[in-house]
Amino acid sequence: MTLASLAVRDVRCIERADLEIPPGVTLIYGDNGSGKTSLLESIFLLGRGRSFRTRSTERLIRRGQDQLRVIGHIDRGEGLLQPLGIECGPSGTVARVAGHPVASLAELSQVFSVQVIEPGVHRLLEEGGHRRRRWLDWAVFHVEPGFVDTWVRYTRAVRQHNAALKADPQQALVWEPELARTGEAIAASRAAFLEQLQPYWQATVAALTGLEVQLFHHRGWSADRTLAEALEASRARDALRHLTHAGPHRADIAVRLGGRPARDVLSRGQQKLVAVAMTLAQLQLLKALSGTAPTLLLDDPAAELDAGRLASFIEQIVQLRTQLIMTSLSAESRLFGAPERVFYVDRGRVQPV
Ligand SMILES: Nc1ncnc2c1ncn2[C@@H]1O[C@H](COP(=O)(O)OP(=O)(O)OP(=O)(O)O)[C@@H](O)[C@H]1O
Ligand SMILES: [Mg+2]
Repeated sequence: MTLASLAVRDVRCIERADLEIPPGVTLIYGDNGSGKTSLLESIFLLGRGRSFRTRSTERLIRRGQDQLRVIGHIDRGEGLLQPLGIECGPSGTVARVAGHPVASLAELSQVFSVQVIEPGVHRLLEEGGHRRRRWLDWAVFHVEPGFVDTWVRYTRAVRQHNAALKADPQQALVWEPELARTGEAIAASRAAFLEQLQPYWQATVAALTGLEVQLFHHRGWSADRTLAEALEASRARDALRHLTHAGPHRADIAVRLGGRPARDVLSRGQQKLVAVAMTLAQLQLLKALSGTAPTLLLDDPAAELDAGRLASFIEQIVQLRTQLIMTSLSAESRLFGAPERVFYVDRGRVQPV
């Protein structure tokens, strides 16, 4: 699946933009502040239901407007185009696939699979576990069709459990079987995916950094207990703090080098490369499993990379043979050969070149 067309209304500085996107390489160039990253954000929003720059989608709404809209057509092969749209306004965010509202934004990733590598990618290592869980879960959504449903059920059960802990801890006990069942399933799916990822990860991180960085899955409760046992053991603590302490919502993927957290021993440029390797390894595995890799957005990809690293980065990406949409300050950017289509952005206006 590739993105074939994009219509953007009122996203940041872009009032309206309509683009036809080729399946190969697209280059978007323009000066600082012209709206290049905003275009990538719009595309990411279609497949993820959120931005990669901010947690609050409302910030993307163009100043003075009360709603943004992004509509895309996904090419599913053999001439089949599937419309996909997302709107964000005062009453929240609504996404539609072929005109029908989706129950959970997580469903979008099964219609349009998109990943981004942007200058803030190192936050995948630096910040808390939620980014790494999200990194992992997005890929597992693709591999296991039932995972979205289990994940939605588990998230709801955690919410209900927390609410019950506040109101009446005895009532909270009713949620434990559902938490245990769906929570164990999530942890097992994540572990299986990471296991499959290992060979791709080791090869990619070695190619990009020359380092033996390792990934470990901590499932979110102690290794010698079932989740049902862990929930039982933490009842008193849960009741005290009105919080569910054990479960895959507390999981993490530890990134380690020589037994120490990678973020403590690597330079910022190396952290960026490790984060890029995590992303690319995932795309390689998804490609191996499904035949096509997700659409990849590259925001200013050459920034902060030395010539040697940039060359291995380019090589890894070219091997994916996937739809690429990249930004650059320069019209001459030829990192991935001659682009199939070029757009020039100037103060929020987008025009084909
Ligand atoms: N909600 C908003 N409404 C209107 N304009 C906004 C909004 N949010 C951000 N902007 C403006 O949108 C412009 C485009 O930002 P964007 O990050 O897309 O530029 P860019 O082309 O990627 O620049 P750079 O080359 O510096 O990365 C900025 O000038 C910013 O001030
Ligand atoms: Mg930018």
